[in-house]
Amino acid sequence: MRTHYCGDLNGSHDGQEVVLCGWVHRRRDHGGVIFVDLRDRDGLVQVVFDPDRAEIFARAEQVRSEFVLRVKGRVRPRPEGTVNPDLPTGEIEVLGLELEILNAAATPPIQLESHVADASEEVRLRYRYLDLRRPEMQARLRTRSQVSRVMRRFLDEHGFLDIETPILTKSTPEGARDYLVPSRTHPGEFFALPQSPQLFKQLLMMSGMDRYYQVARCFRDEDLRADRQPEFTQLDIEASFVDEETLMGLMESMIRTLFEEVNGETLPNPFPRMTYAEAMRRYGSDRPDLRVALELIDVADLMDGVDFKVFAGPAQDPEGRVAALRLPGGGSLTRKEIDGYTQFVGIYGAKGLAYIKVNEWSSKGREGLQSPILKFLPDATVEGIMARTGAEDGDLIFFGADKARVVNESIGALRVKLGEDRGLMAEGWHPLWVVDFPMFEHDPNADRWVALHHPFTAPKEEQLDSLSSDPGSCLSRAYDMVLNGTEVGGGSIRIHREAVQRQVFELLKISDEQAEERFGFLLQALKFGCPPHGGIAFGLDRLVMLMTGAQSIRDVMAFPKTQTAACLLTDAPSAVDEAQLKELALRLRQRG
Ligand code: AMO
Ligand code: AMP
Repeated sequence: MRTHYCGDLNGSHDGQEVVLCGWVHRRRDHGGVIFVDLRDRDGLVQVVFDPDRAEIFARAEQVRSEFVLRVKGRVRPRPEGTVNPDLPTGEIEVLGLELEILNAAATPPIQLESHVADASEEVRLRYRYLDLRRPEMQARLRTRSQVSRVMRRFLDEHGFLDIETPILTKSTPEGARDYLVPSRTHPGEFFALPQSPQLFKQLLMMSGMDRYYQVARCFRDEDLRADRQPEFTQLDIEASFVDEETLMGLMESMIRTLFEEVNGETLPNPFPRMTYAEAMRRYGSDRPDLRVALELIDVADLMDGVDFKVFAGPAQDPEGRVAALRLPGGGSLTRKEIDGYTQFVGIYGAKGLAYIKVNEWSSKGREGLQSPILKFLPDATVEGIMARTGAEDGDLIFFGADKARVVNESIGALRVKLGEDRGLMAEGWHPLWVVDFPMFEHDPNADRWVALHHPFTAPKEEQLDSLSSDPGSCLSRAYDMVLNGTEVGGGSIRIHREAVQRQVFELLKISDEQAEERFGFLLQALKFGCPPHGGIAFGLDRLVMLMTGAQSIRDVMAFPKTQTAACLLTDAPSAVDEAQLKELALRLRQRG
């Protein structure tokens, strides 16, 4: 039907006759001449219809935005002064010789002319097929396709086999709620959609497949955010007879290749590594954004005697934390700005945000400081704070005091926010590995241990003995890859001995009975010669989001769901008719 894509044409086609197919991006009438910007997947080209060819001209007058056309024409240079340097095809235009209207279009509810979407996200999602016509969205999905191609090729070249695992399966715990599918043939029983292919990829290692990968769809019914969707894609990987070093090295090299080939950018070699403990201490986060140089500084030891409960309490609490965050040049913050940041940390549960403005410390000492809490702090404490934070005149020091979890979350988020607001974000890519995660986290509400990763993650060999006696201090063989503050991948070396797996289930208060019922097949398989193995899964959507500079993973998925996990385009989820329910032996009831 066509000879070229619109966006492919340039000066080298001068004089050639071409046939193009595409959509009317824009039609302009100019002094008896009609200009149509014709658009397809590869770009835009200007087509000119002049009145000499009356029949074609009359047809061109009928076309409107988003009509689908087939145009035969001749490429010619644009007249002097009309060259458009911003458009790849801007040097040329196509003189229309034939015009066929392949289809008309109603007026689109989304402006497709502008580069950025000015329609609301609701309209964009409802008319996703139109939204996806925008060049920006086309470019993102093209990048996504390239990302998965490069990763697949890398893995193929390194001996990994692409193997599919079931979607209708049993619960695979990754910390979210399951999506359930009722079984017709087993009334009253349900499949769970996989939260990840975790157990199947481990079983594949037990099958001797040695190296596996899959571009796998995962389903998690959890609270959604900009970087989370209920249905998302992992690049899922597992290998046998490997240790952390081999696996992390290979994965780094894959990600470096990816950025090199897709973005033409060089990532550090090797990626820096940081323990979980250090990440929490310095950044209050296990996915630190290393573009921001600000760091949390512990000051509890300087505060435990002060006459200010807000600080002294957490300073004396073994689960508490008192941290300072120095903002260079922050002395210029207004009261209103500080109030804004106080509100911001409130989102993370902080009850306040104390601060000291360092006006003229060097010449006036404590008289040169300004702070609502200064009156509570003895000289030695003030001097200690100033020395430890290295604060200079013109700076501001923020303080967070609470349970460590609240301080880490709130001040950790504040450092990134300050980085964004105050232009303190370094350019470029700042990847790192976070390692030495604790095996377990204590859930105070349920008074029990929960796995920080998933319950199949191996403990460090040297800690096997203290697993049961001191679970809190036990470290795991897990690793996360973090890029500019986003966790792009996570994995671990797995438990490959049945006894250890049983011990971990026991610690997690999964009874023998429950373990048998939920993971019996795994425990069974572990008896029959399971090789040492480990793996990782990358969030493909998150990677593409970062690589394309998109603000949300919804912008790099063709058909994403809303914040309430609905599809506006198809109107899913939706009610089903009585007959279907009956067939599934289901009856609806009011939510209690
Ligand atoms: P994990 O749960 O860390 O590990 O997931 C791996 C990666 O998947 C991405 N991700 C998500 N992306 C979009 N929306 C979501 N709701 C979502 N949840 C997770 C993240 C994350 O780093 N089975 C293990 C992997 C393993 O141990 O090999 C797992 O699923 O980028
Ligand atoms: P208050 O005594 O509540 O007026 O608080 C005095 C100062 O301490 C204010 O600047 C509060 O924002 C701050 N503040 C209160 N609670 C905390 C907290 N948990 N962590 C840090 N600062 C706090």
